[in-house]
Amino acid sequence: MNEIFKRISVRKFEDRPVEDGKLTQIMKAAMAAPSAGNQQPWEYYIVRDREVIKKLSECSPYAGCAANAPVVIVPCLRTEGLTFPRIGQIDLSITTENILLEITSLGLGGVWLAVMPEEDRVQKVDAALGIGEKLHAFALVPVGYPAEDRPQEDRYDETRIHYIG
Ligand SMILES: Cc1cc2nc3c(=O)[nH]c(=O)nc-3n(C[C@H](O)[C@H](O)[C@H](O)COP(=O)(O)O)c2cc1C
Repeated sequence: MNEIFKRISVRKFEDRPVEDGKLTQIMKAAMAAPSAGNQQPWEYYIVRDREVIKKLSECSPYAGCAANAPVVIVPCLRTEGLTFPRIGQIDLSITTENILLEITSLGLGGVWLAVMPEEDRVQKVDAALGIGEKLHAFALVPVGYPAEDRPQEDRYDETRIHYIG
């Protein structure tokens, strides 16, 4: 899959909005992810409000780049009614990677900014979104048209592969 080998973390964005149709396509890709027992423990906030985006960018020392994105997607983890609650964060990781790959395929850029499992970041993002009882922020994904480009780093390392048989 070509996008896997093109995806890079983009932290600088053009001052240009992301079309609604593209956001819908990103959400379709997000929800196409597999999950444990098909529990689909996800909800997504799509944030375009500048004040809320500013608050999100201040939720961790490593989230500053969100401030200049036209949109920030916040995949969130439902914490009630799950068949496999301990696997919830793994499910959210997969949907977040799907978002990054779909963004790449649409000519957009973005980056995964860690929220979970850091409790203080979760609390700050939950507060900015007005959630937090049964739903918690998992990560931030600022999205926009890239204002930076570079080839993906080649991390292929044969010595990490161990054949048995
Ligand atoms: C779970 C996870 C958490 C990350 N958190 C941050 C973060 O908080 N801030 C940031 O700038 N980048 C973050 N990144 C992006 C990584 O720094 C980036 O993926 C890594 O340096 C490799 O670069 P590449 O994505 O361009 O291949 C995160 C990536 C992952 C997968």
